Amino acid sequence: MVSMFNPRLTDALSDYPFARLNGLIADVTPPAHLPLINLSVGEPQGALPAFARKILADEVEGWSKYPPNQGIADLNLAIVEWLERRYRLPQGLLDPARHVIPTAGSKEGVYVIATVATPQEKGGVKPVVSIPNPFYQAYLGGAVLSGAEPYFANAHAATGFLPDVEQIDEAIWKRMAIFYLCSPANPQGAMASLAYLQRLIRLCRRHDTVLALDECYAEIYTGQPPTGGLEAAFAMDETGGKDPFRNVVVFHSLSKRSNAAGIRSGFMAGDPRLVAMMLRWKTYGGTQIPFAVQKASAALWREETHPVETRAWYAKNFRVAEQILHNRFGYFTPGGGFFLWLDVGDGEAATRRLWGEAHLKVLPGAYVCRETDGVNTAERYIRVALVHDEKTTREAMTRLATVL
Ligand SMILES: Cc1ncc(COP(=O)(O)O)c(C=O)c1O
Repeated sequence: MVSMFNPRLTDALSDYPFARLNGLIADVTPPAHLPLINLSVGEPQGALPAFARKILADEVEGWSKYPPNQGIADLNLAIVEWLERRYRLPQGLLDPARHVIPTAGSKEGVYVIATVATPQEKGGVKPVVSIPNPFYQAYLGGAVLSGAEPYFANAHAATGFLPDVEQIDEAIWKRMAIFYLCSPANPQGAMASLAYLQRLIRLCRRHDTVLALDECYAEIYTGQPPTGGLEAAFAMDETGGKDPFRNVVVFHSLSKRSNAAGIRSGFMAGDPRLVAMMLRWKTYGGTQIPFAVQKASAALWREETHPVETRAWYAKNFRVAEQILHNRFGYFTPGGGFFLWLDVGDGEAATRRLWGEAHLKVLPGAYVCRETDGVNTAERYIRVALVHDEKTTREAMTRLATVL
């Protein structure tokens, strides 16, 4: 029978992790006397700063107008100034009109870059898009729906939880349109070093591959701030600042930095050719970001005290988790991000027990990871989002340690 649906959607993208999770625990009854603590979703539970709330409430004029696709000048400027501060880039290196474009969260950006930068063929055959494995699902959505073949670059304990880029065959590199990397990584919190990023940028340029670097957790870290892709590209630049970001784009977000998942505000920055094509895509099919959101976003990127508080919130949670779990489940406090990546032996079984005995909702690691050569390298793990306040986190960690 001829289907009315796009087979790329129906066949390759049918098992979104949260739908699978709900299926896994559907027949398990949680204990009614314990309130649910949802640790499965990476949705920050802290408050959006009051000054941003006020802007969102006050900026009512713009609701009747179409906002510009490329972002209002003041937002793009605020983003450029933030990039300069955060990554110690020289003033004037980034042009707000050419190097950045606001996106509806980083999700839109990481998904759409695949539409923007997947050719029909590469090396005479179907292009490949490399995805770190485990991974954030929008990368796979972008790769599959743009007609590329996904290549899963395993990132497990033995590779320092980042893909081993030297292990990838030359034949794959020749076909590679995009290399996705997430640093700090969701779920493991690994952070790519300057040397790692520069090696990767060289490899990408050699093969004319786009490095799509998801840095949405860049402001959530426990020790040193993670190195950024633009910073790495600038530090190895040999063009005297004329073309420092060739083949490199980074994605950022206010969702985690500012507890602002609901306003859907992020940006893409880097290679101006890719920014221009992203803008073209926006004009054909993207959604502009409402004026009020753009104005609040500009203020949020300019304000530097609330991210310090955000980091302190997560640092407290990690201290609690470390106190309670420190010598179990291969516990480690990640360099960045807000997830625990716990080796519980059997991630699905642990998830069912935590639901049935402790009313805790966590995500089996295997659900954000694909099998390669018949092995799912994440099946021993669960992902635990430490996004609640300290008291709730303590309660959750205590229940977790009691049950497992
Ligand atoms: C790795 C990663 N990238 C991107 C996103 C998208 O976030 P947003 O669109 O809210 O910026 C998320 C959300 O959880 C994520 O974990």
